[in-house]
Amino acid sequence: MEFSHRPVLLNETLEALSVQPDGVYIDGTAGGAGHSSEIAKRLTTGRLIAIDKDPDAIEAATARLAPYPQATVVRNDFRNIRAVWEELSLPPVSGVLLDLGVSSHQLDCAGRGFSYHSEAPLDMRMSQQGMSAADVVNTYSAAELIRVLRDWGEEKFAPRIANAIVSRREKEPFVTTTDLAETIRAAIPAAARREGGHPAKRSFQALRIEVNGELDALSRALDDAFSILAVGGRLAIITFQSLEDRMVKRAFAEYATGCTCPPEFPVCVCGKTPRGRLVTRKPVTASKTELEENRRSHSAKLRCIEKLKD
Ligand SMILES: C[S@@+](CC[C@H](N)C(=O)[O-])C[C@H]1O[C@@H](n2cnc3c(N)ncnc32)[C@H](O)[C@@H]1O
Ligand SMILES: [Zn+2]
Repeated sequence: MEFSHRPVLLNETLEALSVQPDGVYIDGTAGGAGHSSEIAKRLTTGRLIAIDKDPDAIEAATARLAPYPQATVVRNDFRNIRAVWEELSLPPVSGVLLDLGVSSHQLDCAGRGFSYHSEAPLDMRMSQQGMSAADVVNTYSAAELIRVLRDWGEEKFAPRIANAIVSRREKEPFVTTTDLAETIRAAIPAAARREGGHPAKRSFQALRIEVNGELDALSRALDDAFSILAVGGRLAIITFQSLEDRMVKRAFAEYATGCTCPPEFPVCVCGKTPRGRLVTRKPVTASKTELEENRRSHSAKLRCIEKLKD
């Protein structure tokens, strides 16, 4: 299957990163190299490291970046961004990009099991290794399932869905996406099924986040990505759901905060000055044209911070 993914907020991201021809950049989420190829195109003596953990994305990014000798593709998890940077003996970098979540390719490739629309093995592993979504629904306790559905999916019917999953798997373990989607649909009260899209949407998001350790990877990568920036370097992150955006917003606010003295102190005694400057005060969202052309752009939010000092 051909790799199809339309990059979101492309111009906005390039502008936020302010790509310099001699800069060193790391794209932690290469995917189909939509952003990466545009960065690579702007480099002369600079360098681009394009990381992804999905073997399909690695194949697609390698092919797309082949015309650019400035680009190196690395299969890894961006949670290890600092280790990759050290391994390649790179200098402090001019920019890091994280375009989070799944690619359209992953969603559309029915066999990967990310979508509740088409019947497929319940997989959802971006890296194509480790624990699958079937392992989660067939082995987690009801309490653990409630935590996953509530924390990662903000699903208000988490207990009902978790109980339905546990009683169904006692008869027969879950194998397919549609099988699970139907159990979830049936567990949600009829009146609520008509709200907010497909009834399995939030649960599938929650399972995907759990299977891929998405928020854990982001929380580990944030400080490390900021730490490898050169002074003047920029970290740009595109999020697609509120949990991620909140995490990025908080981290950036902390980098951009100087003094930590209690507000009642008349003068600053801590002497701390901000380590970063917000390039985007408010998150950047898609233009009207992009919203019309790309459904994925609807929930996209771009935030960017510039490093002011080490
Ligand atoms: C939204 S897509 C990126 C699309 C890309 N910017 C483009 O325009 O083609 C997200 C990509 O990040 C990868 N990914 C998600 N979490 C990752 C992680 N923790 N480490 C490495 N890659 C990750 C996914 O496999 C997917 O290919
Ligand atoms: Zn202070």
